[in-house]
Amino acid sequence: MHGRPITVPSSDAALRFKAKIPHPIPYQGSKRRLAPRILSFFPAHVDRLVEPFAGSAAVSLAVAYHGMADRFVVNDAHEPIADLWREIILRPEELSENYATLWQDQLGRRRQYYDAVRARFNETRSPDLLLYLLARCVKGAVRYNAKGQFNNSPDNRRNGATPRAMRRRIAGASSLLSGRTRVDSSDYTTVVDRCGPSDLIYMDPPYQGVGGVKDSRYAAKFDHGQFRDVLAGLNHRGCMFAVSYDGRTGSKTFGEPLPERLRLIHLEIPAGRSSQDTLTGGDRCTYESLYLSPALAEAISLDRRTAIGYTLA
Ligand SMILES: C[S@@+](CC[C@H](N)C(=O)[O-])C[C@H]1O[C@@H](n2cnc3c(N)ncnc32)[C@H](O)[C@@H]1O
Repeated sequence: MHGRPITVPSSDAALRFKAKIPHPIPYQGSKRRLAPRILSFFPAHVDRLVEPFAGSAAVSLAVAYHGMADRFVVNDAHEPIADLWREIILRPEELSENYATLWQDQLGRRRQYYDAVRARFNETRSPDLLLYLLARCVKGAVRYNAKGQFNNSPDNRRNGATPRAMRRRIAGASSLLSGRTRVDSSDYTTVVDRCGPSDLIYMDPPYQGVGGVKDSRYAAKFDHGQFRDVLAGLNHRGCMFAVSYDGRTGSKTFGEPLPERLRLIHLEIPAGRSSQDTLTGGDRCTYESLYLSPALAEAISLDRRTAIGYTLA
């Protein structure tokens, strides 16, 4: 154990910038809302930001928006997400056109249309179809059945972002990342193997108790023991990294904390009222854990003593 984790103050001036950052991919578990607080523990500038579990790449977008890195690696083992990032960055116009066509075509027959797009996506794995599905499905969640077919249902209360809004987000994300981003679809171990001390690695792996990418071609459950060993290896090489990892609601914690032997600084970021308490009128706050590697803590001159300036949880 690390002793008690350190709670990050909830007021943060940087939060007001979040609305301007373009987010084209609606994604369950996106760090969009927490990105300003996560970034407040990053150095003012690094050579390269590496995001091995990118999903909607909320942290890469925020870092690019604030000019805090020159180059980026956006990686996700789920291949259609990596393909979608390639389309966003390299062919924003075509992707926006394709999205607009899908969005217009759905009007007046959304339910059948969603099912038809989902069936087409399951045959082709085409990234523009995935963008439409994520814009329309329940909670923007990527869910596959045992046969490797995307099976999430539509959220019939919403049409998905309008073509105009989506075009603006795609163009914005493309201009932030184009010409300086490598997109990959590898296992995170391959990505971090290639990192060195001048990189900053931000990792947001599947939470404990949650599987990896359930795709027929990528069905492995995420191995948290192996993850801890990979972090030890990164420490050994003096790499700067930050890890978002589980958390707690009130006094109920989720998952095992990362072990003391890794010498990480454990912060807790307030993430608002729990969704269950929002429904039942309770007021328990949810906290997400953020762990900083010793090399990162040193780069931002944060040690446990100065970190105590943030209230103890
Ligand atoms: C919690 S989500 C990351 C969300 C992201 N921070 C965002 O802002 O959208 C975890 C991501 O890791 C990916 N993933 C799961 N196992 C992986 C692995 N072994 N290597 C690389 N990516 C993996 C999933 O496809 C998923 O997109």
